[in-house]
Amino acid sequence: MPESCLGVQEVSEVTSQETDSRIERLRAEHGSRLAVLAHHYQQDEVVAHADYCGDSLELARKIPNLQAEWIVMCGVYFMAESAAILAASGQKVSIPDQNAGCVLSNMAPAWLVERKVRELNDQGRRIIPLAYVNTSAAVKALCGRYGGSVCTSANAATMLDWALQQGDGVVFLPDKNLGRNTAKALGIAAQDYEILDLRSPARASRSRLFLWPGLCTVHNLIKPRHMEHIRQADPRARIIVHPECMPDVVDMADASGSTSGIIRYVQEARPGDTIYVGTEINLVQRLAREFGPAKTIRPVLDTACSNMAKVTAPKLAEHLDAIAAVPKVGVGPEVRQDALLALERMLEVCR
Ligand code: 13P
Ligand code: SF4
Repeated sequence: MPESCLGVQEVSEVTSQETDSRIERLRAEHGSRLAVLAHHYQQDEVVAHADYCGDSLELARKIPNLQAEWIVMCGVYFMAESAAILAASGQKVSIPDQNAGCVLSNMAPAWLVERKVRELNDQGRRIIPLAYVNTSAAVKALCGRYGGSVCTSANAATMLDWALQQGDGVVFLPDKNLGRNTAKALGIAAQDYEILDLRSPARASRSRLFLWPGLCTVHNLIKPRHMEHIRQADPRARIIVHPECMPDVVDMADASGSTSGIIRYVQEARPGDTIYVGTEINLVQRLAREFGPAKTIRPVLDTACSNMAKVTAPKLAEHLDAIAAVPKVGVGPEVRQDALLALERMLEVCR
């Protein structure tokens, strides 16, 4: 490596040490008034400063138990919105980069979801909306109003089963991959569900399940050919993928699970095992560092979520420095009330 690069590395190490010390000093100053939460896809430089790290369900469950005045969500915007919905009055939720969105969530704008849910319900059948937590507060509110709820990748099967018992059918959104994988896990055959065509009015056919045609562009990069390649190159290895991957990929894996489910799978593996993990690269690399060399952890594919990466240690430091003045994640009172209903139904069903 050229000397100049080594120099850059040294400078950046000093800078990152300064940033780390600054964050820790600010956390100590704010004490119990501050809680920093991080999703598993955050970079190590952020995770190192979190009071609590979890998957989407665990992060949502944590909020009602927090006493802190300021809750800083290191993740993407819908996670901060969920926290703002579940937070007590007086608690302030913020995110170090408000532009950290989610591609999947953006594929289901509330106005279009409302139109499709109305079209389906105007035809004499009661169709319940069930939204993956990767949706806006407005979409969650709509689910609350129409008798539906919310799910995460960790409880999608339980919640879909619940939703199917609430009416004549369910519209599951926005992830068609998670929808198809969950339908399969519940034994719902492909002929019993349909993927909505958003260009034409929705028809409430005899289907029990309507899937929104969204997907996560990060997980959808993992293709059957990547799985085949691993199976050929390393036949003794096991593969676990996130259920946002396409059904063909999930079918070829040994297991699928939420981010916390993936962590448990790796924890429970035996020394000497090789496990390929199909999900966001920050989590895979952290698993490789934490469990190697006893266990060999490799990515199915190097897939990064550019939105998760928008939250960095320097941004967290700036954010904590100005915590009293940073913009709060706001959810209007009506949206909050209806979205809270949808989230509380999930927390009640999955106690
Ligand atoms: P988990 O609910 O498994 O943490 O996943 C959230 C997510 O955004 C996956 O892409
Ligand atoms: Fe959204 Fe996909 Fe990123 Fe998860 S990995 S936050 S679903 S874009």
